[in-house]
Amino acid sequence: MATSPLSLPVAEGAPRADGKPRLADPCSVVLFGASGDLAMRKLLPALFNLRHEGFLNDHFALVGVGRDPMSPEQYRHKVAQDIARFLAPVDQALVDWIACRATYVSGGYDDEATYARLRDVLAADGRPRSALFYLATPPALFEPIVERLGASGLAAEMPGVWRRVIVEKPFGHDLASARALNSRMRAVLAEQQIYRIDHYLGKETVQNILALRFGNGIFEPLWNRNYVNHVQITVAETVGVEQRGGYYDTSGALRDMLQNHLFQLLAVTTMEPPSSFQAEAVRDERLKVLEAVRPFGPSAAARDVVRGQYGPGESGGQAVPGYRQEPKVNPLSQTETFVALKVLIDNWRWAEVPFYLRTGKRLPTRVTEIAIQFKGAPHALFRDTPVERMHPNWLVLRLQPSEGISLQFEAKVPGPRVRLGTVKMDFSYADYFGRSPSTGYETLLYDCMIGDATLFHRADLVEAGWNLVSPIQAAWQAQAAPPVEPYFAGTWGPAAADELLRRDGRAWRVPDA
Ligand code: BG6
Repeated sequence: MATSPLSLPVAEGAPRADGKPRLADPCSVVLFGASGDLAMRKLLPALFNLRHEGFLNDHFALVGVGRDPMSPEQYRHKVAQDIARFLAPVDQALVDWIACRATYVSGGYDDEATYARLRDVLAADGRPRSALFYLATPPALFEPIVERLGASGLAAEMPGVWRRVIVEKPFGHDLASARALNSRMRAVLAEQQIYRIDHYLGKETVQNILALRFGNGIFEPLWNRNYVNHVQITVAETVGVEQRGGYYDTSGALRDMLQNHLFQLLAVTTMEPPSSFQAEAVRDERLKVLEAVRPFGPSAAARDVVRGQYGPGESGGQAVPGYRQEPKVNPLSQTETFVALKVLIDNWRWAEVPFYLRTGKRLPTRVTEIAIQFKGAPHALFRDTPVERMHPNWLVLRLQPSEGISLQFEAKVPGPRVRLGTVKMDFSYADYFGRSPSTGYETLLYDCMIGDATLFHRADLVEAGWNLVSPIQAAWQAQAAPPVEPYFAGTWGPAAADELLRRDGRAWRVPDA
């Protein structure tokens, strides 16, 4: 199996003999949902960035599929416009390079004729081409599209011609629907053809957690219950639900963020070292640790999980409405826009180390971080000195917005008295490596084009995520469940989230701005 130069590992075969990166395989990227938001804002700019960095093959082609009637010429124009709109300034020659390789198939997603036209396009030069089908559509269309791909023969691979499908989230809305979707997709496609995307795994710094842990000798010996006091994972957003009220009100933070993104951050932080960086070895380890998470029975769901919903408040100095006043949201909605929980992992490495996870919309700052607090030093040495209290050591992996790693430790304040001050060693990715434009989708698209599924979910990983949240969903749906707790927009969630840590003698860290 190939390994990618963008994602870990930088391994065999990645760079070519001439020192240039391995090119993506010659293929067509087929975007279902071609006029949608995702295609416009993320996927087209990501393809542009890939070409810019020299990863796209000259035999690359783009096929938009959508219900909007559009001629291929109009689509090419739209592709050029979208790239320029979401990635200014751009190199016009590169925009043209992509636009002139684009074509469009218009038609219904359940209409056989659409797939017949698509088949012709994919075999336009006399022989079938490899194709990456990207389902950037509402989830209700995943199944019908995959079924039609199968029925029309478009999913069939042959020597030298691969066919792969990237499926967006949400992958199901609970365990039963995720299982059903997995089984219907697998009736048409082999597991190796299915790439279930989690854009958090495409974030450079998430992959860097693996580099930090397994590319250095100094961290891993401390990465366990002997040295770690607890871990906090925060994914905070300042935005509200914006125009997505219709979707979000049927989803909520547990399904939208926790089941996938936060659990994957947890898995990458806590997994055992894989035996190799092959996709299956890495995914096996992510799965094993998720399976070791202590399940939430009804009492743990009530005690260790907090759900909140933002009310009116302030964001960025502006008054903002509450969730229930957002467009397309039920005015009596019980949907959570915030969730905090305490997770325990029942394995040798992590027994009894609490992991506190929280995510929410309309919080004070946009920040994603994994903060590891280490156990304190024995106090004895400072017994006869004025040092009364030592601050804990924190290793903080900042994922966004300013990617970096910082280590907080105690140092002696200069002077004749023994006094300790807290200092920070701070590393910023931008300072060392500069910034390269990224939408977060480049690595994932490229990996799919070279057949590296390391950063994608396998069926069992998706099901493991749902398996963990299902009892929480059930507890919230029970008649006796307490209502969702309100919090003011622009604050760190409901008081119960603070209480969750306070009762363990701890407090949430205030993330670095
Ligand atoms: C998406 C969720 O998966 O992730 C959104 O559906 C959320 O609700 C988004 O806003 C956050 O992604 P990022 O990359 O901006 O942190």
